[in-house]
Formats: sequence, structure tokens, C-alpha cells
Amino acid sequence: MTEKMSIYKCNICGNIIEVIHEGKGELVCCGAPMEKLTEKTEDMAFEKHVPVISFEGETKTIRVGSIPHPMEGKHYITFIEAISKDGRYITRKYLHPGEEPKMDIKVNGADELSAREYCNLHGLWKSKS
Ligand SMILES: [Fe+2]
Repeated sequence: MTEKMSIYKCNICGNIIEVIHEGKGELVCCGAPMEKLTEKTEDMAFEKHVPVISFEGETKTIRVGSIPHPMEGKHYITFIEAISKDGRYITRKYLHPGEEPKMDIKVNGADELSAREYCNLHGLWKSKS
């Protein structure tokens, strides 16, 4: 059984998918079960991945991470997601090498968000709040 908003990767071809509606079937790609990615929240290395959310006026900014993550050709953040606390809304920004690893999103001041990001080398990360 899959879970809505969980992310899976094919370790053969590199396909990455997000579940938008859960079902009972196993997800398979290239003839093998896909790996369900775990959202990491603790970063022990110098390089930081955990998304950090700041709030100014009506804009929330999500940065990856407390020290900006590299955005080089072979190592970069491929996307950032802002997720409403009730799980009803999700906004995704795709990034490219050379861009700043951040996302601005206008929200109602009372809206609570969490954030996820995907590093092409180090996987899936989630904010602590
Ligand atoms: Fe990384």
C-alpha cells in the first residue's frame, strides 16, 4: 500500500515519482520494486540539506539549508516543496545548477508549512517544523 505524497525512486533508471493518490499495488520500474525514499531531518555533515523556513510579511522563504547547499552540475537540489500542515496543498519549485537553492511562497500569515527538498546525490530531506 502506498501513501499519498510519498516519493519513490527506481535505482536502475533513476525515475523519481510522487504518489498523488494511494493504492494497494507495489510500485515497479525497470522490472524491480521502487525504493520508498525516507525523509531525513538530521544533517551530520558540513554540507546542509535540511530546509529552513523563514517568514517576512506575506512571504515564506524556504532555503536549503542553514549553509547554502551547492548548486553545481553534478550535485544540486533538484526541487523544493512547500506543504501545508493539513496536507491539502503542495507547491513544488524545480531548480537547476547555478540557481540559488531557495523558494519564495506567498501565504496567509496564519498558514503553517513544512518543506521537503531533493538533492540528486544525498536524497530526500524534510524541515523539522
Ligand atoms: Fe547534497
